[in-house]
Amino acid sequence: MIQQAQFPINLDIYRNRPSYLTTMGAAFCGDSLELLNQLPNNSINLVLTSPPFALQRQKEYGNKDQHEYIEWLAKFASVVYQKLKDDGSFILDLGGAYEKGKPVRSLYNFRIPIYFCDEIGFFLAEDFYWFNPSKLPSPIEWVNKQKIRVKDSINTVWWFSKTEFPKSDVTKVLTEYSSRMKKLLEDPEKFYDPKKRPSGHDISKSFGKDNGGAIPSNLLQIANSESNGQYLRGCKALNLKAHPARFPVRLPEFFIRFLTEPGDLVVDIFAGSNTTGFVAEQENRYWLAFEKELQYLATSSFRFVEENMDQASMQFLYEKLLSGESQEIIHSSKQLRLFEKASIYSQQGNLE
Ligand SMILES: C[S@@+](CC[C@H](N)C(=O)[O-])C[C@H]1O[C@@H](n2cnc3c(N)ncnc32)[C@H](O)[C@@H]1O
Repeated sequence: MIQQAQFPINLDIYRNRPSYLTTMGAAFCGDSLELLNQLPNNSINLVLTSPPFALQRQKEYGNKDQHEYIEWLAKFASVVYQKLKDDGSFILDLGGAYEKGKPVRSLYNFRIPIYFCDEIGFFLAEDFYWFNPSKLPSPIEWVNKQKIRVKDSINTVWWFSKTEFPKSDVTKVLTEYSSRMKKLLEDPEKFYDPKKRPSGHDISKSFGKDNGGAIPSNLLQIANSESNGQYLRGCKALNLKAHPARFPVRLPEFFIRFLTEPGDLVVDIFAGSNTTGFVAEQENRYWLAFEKELQYLATSSFRFVEENMDQASMQFLYEKLLSGESQEIIHSSKQLRLFEKASIYSQQGNLE
């Protein structure tokens, strides 16, 4: 069970028990605005989330009309601002959208950073673009039928911060070197003739130093095509529908490694299938997940059970959670590792 003494926040602030507790975190069912409001100010290192998108087509987990959307989301963002530590970060993943009935893009996801920075006080530390090559073509009318627009494969991922210098460490998310860079590192003298570039950039021999990996770019190429994780296995075994808009594990993994340290607190305020909590736990960060649909939280628990848990035990756990009974899911094998090595982030290197 969570060691209250170690967990960065006293969970007794909540009247209701969490839906489930793990070694490093707690998942609560309810409106995240209320749940977030109860946390102490300046207590969270990272809020990482993907809200219901402002799409015209209603998704099963609910969307607001675009004109109401920014104000609705800003209410959450204002509370996030209060609850973040001064060096904390807020990562917001947003899909793009078309205006209703027209082949014209909505500007909502661009208005959001302007609103959040002008009205709430956030800084836009950096803009990221999540390229998901496995995204299906949409909207069908403009892309497939009329063939007048290309496939939309990008989500904007805004990195907001409370101050100009949020905690971050690129060495924790280095990417694999390109084959060209690997060759250069093998024999820098032969491969590279140091010289002044026309740009005035002085490329010296130190460019041939092996830093353990390349600096990643703000274009994150991550396919959302996970098919064999424990979550999906559990849903399939119990014949339950999986959450329709899950993060691929590598998306939260990138930002959790980049913006937090082991023992920090990561919160997802629109947790869905709780990919964020799962990755935080893997990375030895404490986590809180808020989700209003109990069914989504109940299935998300499959992420945390022992790999060889049998179907009957999973069904039992699922039913207990759906009935509102709080459960503890503790891995006997889980060791608390408070130190981690800098790890190579396996995405395309981007030297150039
Ligand atoms: C895009 S999904 C998040 C999916 C998640 N990133 C994952 O990996 O599974 C958004 C979620 O926000 C939840 N939600 C919407 N409004 C909420 C609210 N006010 N409080 C808590 N959860 C909410 C929805 O039920 C939905 O599951």
